[in-house]
Amino acid sequence: MNTLSSLAIKTRLGTQIIGKKIHVFGELDSTNSEAYRMAQDGGQEGEVVVADRQLRGRGRLGRRWLSPPGVNLYVSVILRPPIPVRNATLITLMAAVATAKATKGISGLQPRIKWPNDLLINNKKVAGLLNEMNGKAGQVEFIVLGIGINVNMTMGMIPEEMKSTATSLRKELGYDISRVELLRALLQEVDREYQAFLTGEPGRMLRQWEEFSHMVGKPVEMRSFNEVIRGRVKGIDSNGSLLLSVPDGSEKKVIAGDISQPGELPNKNQDLDAKGQ
Ligand code: BTN
Repeated sequence: MNTLSSLAIKTRLGTQIIGKKIHVFGELDSTNSEAYRMAQDGGQEGEVVVADRQLRGRGRLGRRWLSPPGVNLYVSVILRPPIPVRNATLITLMAAVATAKATKGISGLQPRIKWPNDLLINNKKVAGLLNEMNGKAGQVEFIVLGIGINVNMTMGMIPEEMKSTATSLRKELGYDISRVELLRALLQEVDREYQAFLTGEPGRMLRQWEEFSHMVGKPVEMRSFNEVIRGRVKGIDSNGSLLLSVPDGSEKKVIAGDISQPGELPNKNQDLDAKGQ
């Protein structure tokens, strides 16, 4: 089924926290912007905003997110975890794991997580996450999880300069898949992972993140706050920072940046730069 409707998405959803309210729009500036506005006006934990199309879909680092109608998923979820701001990165990693599991479960394809939260299939970007937080006195007030998945977008819809770095599930599979089924699986995975996160140690989720990332032990180049750091990935720490061992033998913790592996293009992929779209 291709039409997104709240009723269709809620059928057999069976979640505890995520998706009690699902707001579906034909068109929005950005589902993240709408969910952020709702959260500021008292929107509840687990409320979901979905749009068939975004006019100003936003990516990380001020980039645009290509958001044509009728083909992809553009989803934002409001969370209100009772955690300090310094642990919010863990929610981002949790959302990437949930997106990877849902994508794998529905498509049978094996996605790879690229730090911090891109999803690649055959080395091309198929999904991205933009999580935005509001905090007060060091505590999280709310987080908007923003998830974009290229589902049935054809290569013809992708601008020429992005063709070598972006893909869609349809492109990789050779046939269309149901956006409603994928969205339902995504909300179910976010629900499961979020409950596990709230009730226990993040260790299991971090190990799953490492498994999906295939990055441990690999050499990488990291651009972070105007600095280029070269090193080998050691893993991820309990706060969600990436740990690198650098050539002088010491360890570096990285909390934000763009990562690439030798021979790989820097992260242009699905995001258009600010002039784009
Ligand atoms: C990135 O990889 O740069 C993040 C892309 C995030 C895109 C999604 S689509 C739904 C939500 N609304 C937005 O405006 N952005 C996120």
